[in-house]
Amino acid sequence: MKATLAFDIYGTLIDTHGVIDALTPYFDDHAHAFSAAWRAKQLEYSFRRGLMQSAVPFSQCTREALSFCLASYGKSLSEPQVDDLMAVYGKLPAFDDAERALAALSPNSACWAFSNGEQSAIDQLMAVSGLNTYLRGAVSVEPVASFKPNPAVYHHFNQQTQSEPANTFLISGNPFDVIGAHNVGWQTIWVQRDRRQVFDVWGASPTYTVSQLSDIIDII
Ligand code: LAC
Repeated sequence: MKATLAFDIYGTLIDTHGVIDALTPYFDDHAHAFSAAWRAKQLEYSFRRGLMQSAVPFSQCTREALSFCLASYGKSLSEPQVDDLMAVYGKLPAFDDAERALAALSPNSACWAFSNGEQSAIDQLMAVSGLNTYLRGAVSVEPVASFKPNPAVYHHFNQQTQSEPANTFLISGNPFDVIGAHNVGWQTIWVQRDRRQVFDVWGASPTYTVSQLSDIIDII
């Protein structure tokens, strides 16, 4: 049976730090740190919204996290400046190795994107990057009204793609996502792009660990 590959989007196919150039005029040398803080807060807000069972579009988590981080840095931007940053987030670049990996994997495996992002946002990202050429489609958690790592969103993916958990691989750069997929019986591939990145010590290890997406070609 063909494997089903579920590629996480933000931090896996798409580089969330692609916003750094747009942040540099405001934060100079601190743009990278700001970008990391923004991303961490965005995820924290998605976890909290999920637990509170009061989901909002993921882009709202992103925008509210941006407002929080700006306030934390004591920075006040105009509404058009905030809108511009959000627009950059809507067109973030793909990682360099994403196209090569998908081109090699898609003939023999069912490749999908799978993300917290709302459907319109992830469809746009996949179209702008051209990665949609290699994908069967992009599955959003939006209809579940929750976020990763709620088991319901992984079940939703299996339902939408008519796949079985044991034959599904989550490919993600985000350890929390890898553990969430392991929790519902999927196989997992952690993309550890930075050797210094530590995996959560939870007793749930990734099935495979790679340093770049193209290494997956040798696994599947
Ligand atoms: C996503 C989050 C995990 O794309 O970044 O689902």
